[in-house]
Amino acid sequence: MVRYIENPPDARSLMTSARSFGNYDLAGALADLVDNSLKARAHKVEVSCLFNNGVPEVRVWDDGHGMSEAELRAAMRPASQNPLEERSPDDLGRFGWGMKSASFSQCTRLTVISTKERITSGAVWDLDTLDNWRMGILSETEVAQCRSQYINSESGTEVIWNNCDRLSENSTIREKEFNELVTHTKNRLALTFHRYLSGEVRGMKLSMSLNGQPIEAHDPFYSHHNATQVLPPEILLVGDQEVAIRPYVLPHFSKLKATDHDRLAGEEGFLKNQGFYVYRNHRLIIRGTWFRLVRFGELAQLVRISIDIPNSLDDIWKITVDKSDAQLPAVLRLRLSQIVKGLRKRSSRVNSSKGGRISSSSKISVWERYARDGEIKYHINRKHPLIAALLKPGTENNNANVRAALLAIEQGFPVESFGQDITNRPEDVHQPEAQAERFREFLEAAVPIVLSQVGGDFKLLGANLRRTEPFRSNWMPVEEYLEKKGWVDARS
Ligand SMILES: Nc1ncnc2c1ncn2[C@@H]1O[C@H](COP(=O)(O)OP(=O)(O)O)[C@@H](O)[C@H]1O
Ligand SMILES: [Mg+2]
Repeated sequence: MVRYIENPPDARSLMTSARSFGNYDLAGALADLVDNSLKARAHKVEVSCLFNNGVPEVRVWDDGHGMSEAELRAAMRPASQNPLEERSPDDLGRFGWGMKSASFSQCTRLTVISTKERITSGAVWDLDTLDNWRMGILSETEVAQCRSQYINSESGTEVIWNNCDRLSENSTIREKEFNELVTHTKNRLALTFHRYLSGEVRGMKLSMSLNGQPIEAHDPFYSHHNATQVLPPEILLVGDQEVAIRPYVLPHFSKLKATDHDRLAGEEGFLKNQGFYVYRNHRLIIRGTWFRLVRFGELAQLVRISIDIPNSLDDIWKITVDKSDAQLPAVLRLRLSQIVKGLRKRSSRVNSSKGGRISSSSKISVWERYARDGEIKYHINRKHPLIAALLKPGTENNNANVRAALLAIEQGFPVESFGQDITNRPEDVHQPEAQAERFREFLEAAVPIVLSQVGGDFKLLGANLRRTEPFRSNWMPVEEYLEKKGWVDARS
């Protein structure tokens, strides 16, 4: 006969281990609080992260429906909801641990003050003084002291973190590191909640600020840019639940403004940001992964695919408690990898149509690309007028030396490091663009060479320059130059 005895967990040990549930950073932890605000139908969320002379304090306030004292007590309780109970479809929570584990991942003292129907209550867990499962209830005066003075609304909730000992790897954080963390956090929140911030989610338009500065939506698909290709969406079924897939091919770097480019590339660059973006109830949970369907870099950097999943599929996707990770259900693997394969072609087309300066058409470039028998080679074009001039017999140049130098340049082409750079940091690879003054100097020297090659025929000169790089892509200054020289025939 089995005998039953009480065997509850030790409060302090359990709460301390809850500090390591999930893999939260500040942004991830705050996002979990914002999820709760959204669930409470908030339209406004104000976050403040104050350095406070090395004693940082973090606050999140929302104008949602708030909690009564009884609700607040239940909310403060660890595992306040059974994960197997069905959730309403707009519920962003999971496990009933979010607020607690997110908070304790960053701090040891969690205070929550909430107003519902004009009645305000406050509760506090302090891990440093935790005595069994006894939770602190704030008196009216304590509530008044604790809550943000400026906030005055009929309902809403404020979460306050003190003793933030996990913001940095060291338990104390320096001001510079703190400020960088806050900037990073702002960017992440702008991305995580971009659909709410932009008003895409019907009836749930959210305005959010961090330290008084508005957080603007950051759409990782750049879907409003006219050069972004929005491909037809597809609905896949997992059981009877719908999963929506929407592929995008982003515009080529050259079509983006520098600020947009930097934003889209993010802190880690375009390559790291390619891949699937998984949304659960319109909230981004995973970004930039291929779920091992393809290797990073194999696909051009411009493909990003959104996947929308309902929260009823949490179990199948194995959503982690910090909502930072999930696993691709096996039933979706095949179709997704087919979609990705179809996109591979498109993305490389965007890349080569704009990125490749070198092409085989009638254009004359210094570098020529030969692709034959599966081999690709780059040659210096001996027929380019400036190169041809160097090689012209009978000039004072020593032709043998020139030939040797060209060969050395060709053979020394840094194929490997160039290849690596193009894969890892394509947006940073640029050849120097001549400045206006330098380019005019170049024209003074170069155009007469071309002119002599066409036997002094201005019409031919014009036709030739128009086909030849770098004149061709810099036609304005070339035309100005021809006009200045009075070589008007060459312009028409
Ligand atoms: N900002 C808030 N406004 C209103 N209710 C909240 C807020 N934050 C938390 N709650 C309540 O506390 C409960 C527990 O939250 P949490 O620990 O994040 O777990 P979960 O979100 O998984 O339910 C929520 O289900 C909700 O009822
Ligand atoms: Mg939650």
